Amino acid sequence: MTERIPLHGEEFTSRPDRVYERLRSHGPVVPVELEPGVPAMLVVDYDTALQVLRSPHVFAKDSRRWLPTAPPEAGVLPMMAWRPNTLFADGAAHARLRPPVAESLELVKPAEVRRSVRAGATELIRAFDGRGHADLLGEYAARLPMLVLQRMFGCPPEISQAMVAAIAALWDGTDPQLADEYLEAGVRDLVRYKRARPGDDITTRLIRHPHGLDDSELVHQLVVMLGAGAEPLGNWIANALYLLLTEHRVADAVATGSVALDEALDDVLWRYAPLANYAITYPRHPVHLGRVLLPADQPVLVSIAAINTDPALHPRGRVPTGNRAHLAFGAGPHTCPASRPARLIATVALETLLDSVPAVELDDRYPVRWRPGPFHRALTALPVRFPAVPSLADPVRSPADPGGSACPHAAP
Ligand code: HEM
Repeated sequence: MTERIPLHGEEFTSRPDRVYERLRSHGPVVPVELEPGVPAMLVVDYDTALQVLRSPHVFAKDSRRWLPTAPPEAGVLPMMAWRPNTLFADGAAHARLRPPVAESLELVKPAEVRRSVRAGATELIRAFDGRGHADLLGEYAARLPMLVLQRMFGCPPEISQAMVAAIAALWDGTDPQLADEYLEAGVRDLVRYKRARPGDDITTRLIRHPHGLDDSELVHQLVVMLGAGAEPLGNWIANALYLLLTEHRVADAVATGSVALDEALDDVLWRYAPLANYAITYPRHPVHLGRVLLPADQPVLVSIAAINTDPALHPRGRVPTGNRAHLAFGAGPHTCPASRPARLIATVALETLLDSVPAVELDDRYPVRWRPGPFHRALTALPVRFPAVPSLADPVRSPADPGGSACPHAAP
């Protein structure tokens, strides 16, 4: 097959399932285009993906192999350009950079996370629950992770707010250079702040880790943790709400307790994985994979979404409840080190919303749309309505939202 299948354009954005079906019909490894003029190879088969992700001696993470041949203006560059962080590191560099990241996350206390998600969620919900309608993406799912992460990282709101828009712009590929600069500047401020005021938080643990990361290493580990954390986490929560609002079978199972929220969240990862096509590697030399000869140094992505939704993995048409064998958190040495806190944050975010805003339903006056971009599965907005809660209606607004919602769907 020589023609590349685009991971961009109207069909891929609105009906990626059709594109994934076509991709799978071409075999385990398929030539694709990430955006016009940016070719890549995409793995769409489970076993082949594991083979790639577990063979770092063949498939390197260091994107400097590709960058000299990459189109300099590509919108995907900020997500693929090399940074001195654990995500782009191989061998000895990865062995130095991953432990501070993984260990600082392991020390996160679940009770504190739970408390901080509840506090952040309640603050956001109070800003819209008296209104009877809201955009659960812009006013809730997209904001909550940063409120929680800023506490986990010991980051004051005035620093974190500037980073939120930059992170979203990085994933969308809009104004990548500016987004990059804003995010790095915010993280640099955070390192300076925590050096002066250490605490029981992830940033302080990174600073004090025995591997002795220098300032530049610290900044880049924090960029990947915040950049790779907030967006997929917000999209996981939003996609879960979308599933609960559109599929009564799932909502009823959760409401009656026959399926735990945590298990419903795995259903979301199988069907709407927030990181849809990622885990990018670069073959160290030409290599045969699934009857395709992959050239050296050119990007190979794993289609987490095409694989997770492959009917061959679900012969009975449905994923058994509680099955966590999906690839939503990656696999191999670069597996997401934050799956445990991320799962807890998503669970408490859903719990709090469903407890506080009963009888919520999709506002069908507004069509549901998905954001463009090859890497993520992300809604543009999640407009809902519900019976307003007059007793709680008060003019208190989230400090992150002093002027009311910025989303046009929020105030129809
Ligand atoms: C608290 C939130 C999160 C943080 C701090 C975080 C952080 C990270 C970091 C630092 C890595 C790189 C690990 C390495 O290269 O050694 C990573 C990888 C990854 N994360 Fe997360 N993450 C978060 C949430 C999520 C969520 C919600 C998802 C999707 C459901 C996700 C999916 C992944 C995947 C697929 C990889 C592997 C990427 C690759 O191999 O290129 N992460 N994450």
